[in-house]
Amino acid sequence: MDKIIVTGGRRLQGEAAVSGSKNAALPILIASLLTDEPCTFEGIPELVDIKTALKLLKGLGVKVEEEKPGSVTLQARGVDKLEASYELVKTMRASFLVLGPLVARFGEARVSTPGGCAIGARPVNLHIKGLAEMGAEIDLVHGYVQAKAKKLKGAKIYLDAPSVGTTENLMMAAALAEGTTVIENAAQESEIQDLAAVLNKMGAGVAGAGTGTIHIEGARKLGGVAHRVIPDRIEAGSLMVAGAATGGDVLVRDMRPDHLDAFILKLREAGVELSVESDRVHVKGDGIKSVDIATLPYPGFPTDLQAQMMVLMSVADGVSVMTENIFENRFMHALELIRMGADIRLEGNRAVVKGVASLSGAPVMATDLRASMSLILAGLVAKGETEISRVYHLDRGYERVEKKLGALGAEIKRVRA
Ligand code: EPU
Repeated sequence: MDKIIVTGGRRLQGEAAVSGSKNAALPILIASLLTDEPCTFEGIPELVDIKTALKLLKGLGVKVEEEKPGSVTLQARGVDKLEASYELVKTMRASFLVLGPLVARFGEARVSTPGGCAIGARPVNLHIKGLAEMGAEIDLVHGYVQAKAKKLKGAKIYLDAPSVGTTENLMMAAALAEGTTVIENAAQESEIQDLAAVLNKMGAGVAGAGTGTIHIEGARKLGGVAHRVIPDRIEAGSLMVAGAATGGDVLVRDMRPDHLDAFILKLREAGVELSVESDRVHVKGDGIKSVDIATLPYPGFPTDLQAQMMVLMSVADGVSVMTENIFENRFMHALELIRMGADIRLEGNRAVVKGVASLSGAPVMATDLRASMSLILAGLVAKGETEISRVYHLDRGYERVEKKLGALGAEIKRVRA
């Protein structure tokens, strides 16, 4: 297993370009299952999770062509398998998103349930309930969800929580259902809006994506699409924290600041100097103050930036109360940060973070994707060397991160196993 070694204490300086969004790309690649025509997507990041999604689609019989880096054409004409195995779904939960499109187009599907996860239970009950409301007959057999429906029917669906994955699964199913589907209390994330743009280009009628109520007019048949996915707002936010936490001067470009409003406002409140233009943010960090943070569904503060923000709060002036409202076990990084000298007290879904003058490098272990990034960030601000193991988590979601940080002047290297 590879390790990443960071020697801290360098002030980051320069420019970093943001890659395409992992969490937008995954459902969008899967949406190609809705048509037999070719779908070309650009801005697809080179990540382990993307490879897993392409492997899943190939296994179903989708033709996958990767013409050049970042560009992929998918054609789901020869789909001859309607199953996503436990092996794939357990390595990447987003695989579960094939359920809706497969049932909608082929009338049946068999998809493994994902099981637990390092950051929380993450059940799929809302996905299942929504599809059942659209007329799918659903059985849970040997750990697999088996769904059948001659033709899905539009329905009015209320989500008990604004789940991102559920909203995506149901939007894709509804795009080929008969009639109109209305999703109430839908997720509003930027990635949902990007998926809606793709479905509309394919011929569905999606309105209201980005608000709590989404209307989807199903089409009898959907067509091919060409689309570039949005920039990764979580990578952008992570790079901004890297600039701020090291007292640096960093321009994060090729991003969408309008997808990060809550995060940008919180950084400002913490005293980070930010100059924001339409596709870039210039970050200068100096004299960071503690602020309280509560993660919330979009447009609230993203849970996927909580771990990174905890590093900034660990070296801020004052005490910050960080509340995690989305996942019940998303503080694993705190225990590693404590080993690096952070003063953090965990109380249920709250972390009380008292800023310290400096962190000190240590061997630490990554437990999930965003936790891995927080440990790299901690390594950048710490005195001495931080050795991060289990970086395969990082490779699931950050494209060429050590190169990007290295170009900003970080002393960071990967040690291959
Ligand atoms: N939930 C249920 N039942 C369901 C579905 C969700 O109770 O059927 C609960 C979950 O347990 C969780 C909450 O609802 O407590 C939110 O989960 P959601 O479904 O919104 O999350 P997700 O779709 O599984 C996506 C991202 C995550 C991100 C969350 C929240 C992708 C591939 N994943 O997950 O990204 O944290 O939304 O914004 O889009 C990451 O990139 O590191 C990552 C974990």
